[in-house]
Amino acid sequence: MQTVRDLKPAGRRVLMRVDFNVPLEEDRVRDDTRIHAALPTIRHLLDQKARLILASHLGRPKGERRSELSLAPVARRLSELLDRDVPLAPDCVGAEAEAAAARVADGEALLLENLRFHAGETQNDPAFAEALTSLAEIYVNDAFGTAHRAHASTVGVARLLRERAAGLLIEKELEFLGPLLAGPAEPFLVILGGAKVSGKIEVIENLLPRCTAVLIGGAMMYTFWRAEGGATGRSRVEEEHQETARRLQQRARELDKRLLLPSDTVVARDIEQADGVRVVGRGEIGEAEAGVDIGPQTRGAFAAEIAQARTIFWNGPMGIFEKEPFAAGTLAIAEAVASATERGATTVVGGGDSVAAVRRLGVADRLSHVSTGGGASLEFLEGKQLPGIAALEGSAET
Ligand code: 3PG
Repeated sequence: MQTVRDLKPAGRRVLMRVDFNVPLEEDRVRDDTRIHAALPTIRHLLDQKARLILASHLGRPKGERRSELSLAPVARRLSELLDRDVPLAPDCVGAEAEAAAARVADGEALLLENLRFHAGETQNDPAFAEALTSLAEIYVNDAFGTAHRAHASTVGVARLLRERAAGLLIEKELEFLGPLLAGPAEPFLVILGGAKVSGKIEVIENLLPRCTAVLIGGAMMYTFWRAEGGATGRSRVEEEHQETARRLQQRARELDKRLLLPSDTVVARDIEQADGVRVVGRGEIGEAEAGVDIGPQTRGAFAAEIAQARTIFWNGPMGIFEKEPFAAGTLAIAEAVASATERGATTVVGGGDSVAAVRRLGVADRLSHVSTGGGASLEFLEGKQLPGIAALEGSAET
């Protein structure tokens, strides 16, 4: 796979797929992490005097032009970060987009309007891919967060433009995620949280044989507790996945790996008001209570495991960290993982919620790598081929 460093883009039009699917708040970008993450490649291409045409999706407008999903706030934020004007083309294909692309001078950039205003994007429609391709001579993909989608701008265009390369963000993501599948330094800990077991089955199955232990927190722990007959009250439980939970534990035993469940949990009678909060043991939640976080004993036990690890992958918060009274578990894990990094462990955090957590808790800069891909990083660790990456592979001349 080529990277942008292999290209000679001076004076040539480069279509660069980025993942600027960022959270907005009142017409402003609330979290610009993904824009920052694309800057090294953007700056590299601008320094090389490329004529840069950036393309991204935002949200899921399903083929309709929706003004609240315009990339205008992103163009403004990008202009601020680059300290130069990055205009927004009114569309991503068609006469106006072509005219805007033709006006881009050497070392300047243009942002195309939301790709998903056209249904052809998610359908990987050949005519739509052709229309995008006609804007440029070279294709660069740096949208790691969208690499698990086989869309026109991630796969269709890559097949049509012979000169293609990965950006520096994709390169960095693979540099950190790749070794997790290919012999990471041991002990290798996988920490999983979040709401659902169902979304993590394949990643657990694929990582169990490769890791030392899997630590389970977040609401998914209650499905495991219920599966072993414990009381879970009003906690979020995936009833239909109790068998899955039992099967995963059985698989861990067969492989002689540890799948560690919390020994205690914080519960509340009223989550909104943080009322009736107390700590109870494994499977001892009262009928009117719901689990909201891992308990103090579990925090200590997990932190001790983390302190021994040489490689850590973490996906999913340990509790409802957005609410301060229920954030202690996620905070304890974040702190322990950051300290492990400082002691020399390689630590990778992936997934939208856990990334939001480490940022909010202020430890993101103390980790080896914070992935920009939620679904993409999980699918990669499930052992699946990411279509956006596969489409870049092969010689530039084929
Ligand atoms: C993401 O935020 O995970 C990516 O931008 C992909 O978005 P999608 O799930 O709407 O395809």
